[in-house]
Amino acid sequence: MDPQALETEAHSAIAAALSVSELDAVRVQFLGRNAELPQALRKVRDRETGMTLNALRQRLDEAVNARRDELEEQALTQRLSGETVDVTLPGYPVPRGHLHLITQIRREIEDVFLGLGYAVLDGREVETTYYNFTALNLPEWHPARSPLASLFLDEDTVLRTETSPAQIHVMESTRPPVYVVSLGRVYRRDTPDATHSPIFHQVEGLAVDTGITLADLKGTLLHLMRALFGEERRVRFRTHYFPFTEPSLEPDVSCFLCDGGGCSVCKHSGWIEMGGSGMVDPAVYGYVGYDPEQVSGFAFGLGLERIAMLRHGLPDLRQLWENDLRLLGQF
Ligand code: DAH
Repeated sequence: MDPQALETEAHSAIAAALSVSELDAVRVQFLGRNAELPQALRKVRDRETGMTLNALRQRLDEAVNARRDELEEQALTQRLSGETVDVTLPGYPVPRGHLHLITQIRREIEDVFLGLGYAVLDGREVETTYYNFTALNLPEWHPARSPLASLFLDEDTVLRTETSPAQIHVMESTRPPVYVVSLGRVYRRDTPDATHSPIFHQVEGLAVDTGITLADLKGTLLHLMRALFGEERRVRFRTHYFPFTEPSLEPDVSCFLCDGGGCSVCKHSGWIEMGGSGMVDPAVYGYVGYDPEQVSGFAFGLGLERIAMLRHGLPDLRQLWENDLRLLGQF
C-alpha cells in the first residue's frame, strides 16, 4: 500500500462527495473495517509505519468530519431557502365565536338594571308548585296548574313556567327595599311554532319600597325600552289581569320601525306588546310577610326571544335554537 497515493485518492474522493450519504460511502471505502488502511494498521508491526499510518487515518477522519459539517450546512441552507415563508400570503381564517344573541340581550338587560342600582339574581328552574303558583296567588283551578299546560316532575314539582317565582324567593329572604331582576329559562307545554317554544327566556323585575307607584313602573320600563329599542321610544299601558299584580298592565312600546306610523312589525297599530307588569298584589305580600300598608311595589316580566325577534326582524324564534352559525353569526 502506498500511503501517499491513498491519501491523495481519499482526499479527492472526500471532496467529490456531494451528500452526507455519498460521504458515508467514501468513509467506509477508506476507513471502514475492511478498507485497506485499517487492515494495514491491524497488521503493522513496526512503530514507524504504525505512527505514519495512524496519523494518516487521523487526517482522513478529520477530513471526513470537516466535509460532513460542510455538507450538512449546505443541506440546511438549501432546505431553509426552499422553506421560506411568504409573509404576504393571506393566513387561514380562524372563525371567532361570540355570545348567543339571547345571552347578549340578557346581559344588556342586566347592565341596564345594574345601572339603576338593581341586583341581578338567579332563580331556580325546578320549582315547587308553592313558589310557581300558590305564592303568586294563582287559584287552585288556574289552568297553568294543569299538566296539559305545564311540565311537572311530580305532583308538587314543576319546571318553572315563568321567572316570577324568583319574586317570592327574594322577598322571603330579604326585607324591603328590594330592587332585583332575575333572568333565565322557563318551560311550558307548548308545541313549537314560529312564536312558541316549550323552552324560552324571561326577564323578571321587582321593585318594592315605600311609596312606589305606577309612574315608577312606567319610567323604569321606558328606560329599558329606550336602551333596547332606541332613545325615541315611548311606552303605554293596557289594562290586563295577572293573579300576582293589581292593577295588572301590559306595556306596549312605540314601534321602533315606523315610530307609530304603522308597519308590519307593529301590525299597523304603531305599538308593540312587550309582556306583563303591574303593581304587586297585596295577597302576594301576605305570602312573604311584607306589610302592604307599609310598602308598595311593581313587577314585570318580558320574553327575551320576543325582544330578539322584534329587534332583529327574525320571523321564527326556532331559528335561535337551530344552531345554524350562518344565522347566529349575524348577531
Ligand atoms: N309571569 C308572567 C307570564 O309569564 C309575566 C308577568 C306579568 C310577570 C306581570 C310579572 C308581572 O312580574 O307583574 O306571563
